[in-house]
Amino acid sequence: MGRKRKERCVERFGVSIDPALLREFDIYIKQKGYGTRSEAIRDLIRDVLAEKKTAQKLERSKGKVYAILTIVYNHHLPKLAEKVLEIQHHGADIIISSMHIHIDQENCLEVVAMKGLGRDVLEIIDRISSIKGVRMGKYILLPEDIPS
Ligand code: NI
Repeated sequence: MGRKRKERCVERFGVSIDPALLREFDIYIKQKGYGTRSEAIRDLIRDVLAEKKTAQKLERSKGKVYAILTIVYNHHLPKLAEKVLEIQHHGADIIISSMHIHIDQENCLEVVAMKGLGRDVLEIIDRISSIKGVRMGKYILLPEDIPS
């Protein structure tokens, strides 16, 4: 009279994927020590959703947040560097610091640190990232009170 094993309700779905991408993914999950692709995919989905939830919370926060934006651009493109600079000067009350790295003859990497209300910080991020020619615009948001 064994107790009936409690079945966890799971759903299955099929994924169409490029074979080369799948091979790369298999290498990744092996390195990470996952037993199965399902385990790895579940973790990735959880991570993405948790990250999104945190970002949304910070974006809507009534308090201030820190933001770090990284961008890459070709400084030879007409007016591009000027536009990036202009927006930064315009947001001088929010921008704490910026660092400019000359990657090579053409490309520049810029890291912009900000502190302000979520919506104000995001507005600057959007304005800079949407300049034509600005590439790899990635940002992270952090709460003003960094949890210990
Ligand atoms: Ni440069």
